[in-house]
Amino acid sequence: MEDNKKHLWWQDGVIYQIYPRSFQDSNGDGIGDLQGIMQRLDYLQWLGITAIWISPIYPSPMADYGYDISDYIDIHPLFGSMTDFDRLLTEVHNRGMKLILDFVPNHTSDQHPWFLESKSSKENPKRDWYIWRDAKDDGSPPNNWLSVFGGSGWEWDEDTQQYYYHAFLKEQPDLNWRNPEVQEAMLSMMKFWLDKGVDGFRIDVMWHMIKDDKLRDNPPNHDYQQHMATYEQLLPYYSTDQPEVHDIVHKMRKLLDSYNERMMIGEIYLPIHKLVAYYGADNNGAHLPFNFQLLSLQWNAREIGAAIDQYEGSLPDQGWPNWVLGNHDQPRITSRVGLQQAKVAAMLLLTLRGTPTIYYGDELGMTDVPIPFEEVQDPQGLNMPDKNLSRDPARTPMQWDASDHSGFSQTKPWLRVDKSYKRINVEAQKNDSHSMLTFYKKLIALRQQEISLKAGNYVPVHADPQVISFIREAEGESRFLIVLNLSHKPCYFSPKNIHINGEVILATIPELEGEKVGNNINLSGDEGVIIKLEN
Ligand code: GLC
Repeated sequence: MEDNKKHLWWQDGVIYQIYPRSFQDSNGDGIGDLQGIMQRLDYLQWLGITAIWISPIYPSPMADYGYDISDYIDIHPLFGSMTDFDRLLTEVHNRGMKLILDFVPNHTSDQHPWFLESKSSKENPKRDWYIWRDAKDDGSPPNNWLSVFGGSGWEWDEDTQQYYYHAFLKEQPDLNWRNPEVQEAMLSMMKFWLDKGVDGFRIDVMWHMIKDDKLRDNPPNHDYQQHMATYEQLLPYYSTDQPEVHDIVHKMRKLLDSYNERMMIGEIYLPIHKLVAYYGADNNGAHLPFNFQLLSLQWNAREIGAAIDQYEGSLPDQGWPNWVLGNHDQPRITSRVGLQQAKVAAMLLLTLRGTPTIYYGDELGMTDVPIPFEEVQDPQGLNMPDKNLSRDPARTPMQWDASDHSGFSQTKPWLRVDKSYKRINVEAQKNDSHSMLTFYKKLIALRQQEISLKAGNYVPVHADPQVISFIREAEGESRFLIVLNLSHKPCYFSPKNIHINGEVILATIPELEGEKVGNNINLSGDEGVIIKLEN
């Protein structure tokens, strides 16, 4: 059985994503930094977090807020220095926690010295490090590929009279991973951080890394609707998820495996059957290809139940599952399903089989903050202003306390703080037994303490449009039945397929805890319970 195997830290743990600009400002410039993160490590430890993933902190012109890197082996002065980083890593390790860096291999900044060289002439030895092509006879781009952030994926360079490809901003030219020199250079950048003792990487847009070698046109998406990003007009059939990407992922994995217990998460937005290929043949790919289903599925228990079953059934042997409720690119869960239902979502995240990743602030029930048009920072929002696609609302400053700027900074932050901060903050919620934060803390503690929840099997019990229920169990350990009402209406759960005799040990409202339960379970809307079974 699954539970008898030794589990590694990235299987057993709870990952917490920090968006560094918005976590804690220590030097009063309105932007979060490494020293700020250091000041808040005790909080993360108190919460029960075991691994931290930090979005990019490298030197960058910040066209895409750090996802446009101009030097892979240094720290942006906004965030601090390499000395700060070394201290942070030591402090994280001293607390028994792990540190995961964000690594962006698909593209560099257009200010990266490699691109400046590549752009300088057609004969430059680094020309082939990026994807340069001639215009078509009529002067138009080499193919129809679109940029995720709007417009064509090709940018014309007047000086050398060719186009270069950028899947994201024109300030983020795509590297040519078919070139062995690029592979070697990027792997050596990863090695730099591994040698320092970093515990793993979250690999940005892993499925974009290699493109069709003939650069064929992408086919149209017949399901495109006006409200969608313009990128979605085509199916990225030839520009992403090419078979050769797995060789690259494997090379990264080989490097990681030459160290002790380092790991790799892949950022991959693909349907399940394609996603699981990123575990690699014989599990020699990514340790955790991010599973983003909960971000996009309709909040309907039957659909979610089916998706869990499909995912569980598709995992390769030894492939370890993982679940995500939010990140810096997506609307916050509270805004999507509502504050009360966000508790049910948290219970789902932390009771499913597989490593959970928590997005900073979700443990408080922070919501998407409406950013007035003139304050919008995110290029995705600025480039497609009529589509309400800005990612800023989910990137606002962490709400620590009721003081000015929510304890995030002593000065006006780079993005406005939500108006709710005097009520919704760490200080206010810490000692409130009904708060989201207390609930998260209890869920994490229970998960970490119970082997069945941390590593046991997942056994589906029931799913209808309202309710989902499953058992987590491991040999010789307590068994748990989880019942979640994903709707706002009361539900009456009387399963025929199992006999229930147990006690509620954790619930979305503490009043339910300690209740004995049998085969008739009635829940109010937005309620969820974890029942410890007697038998
Ligand atoms: C990833 C990041 C996103 C970024 C994009 C381009 O999707 O999560 O924030 O804009 O890659 O690097």
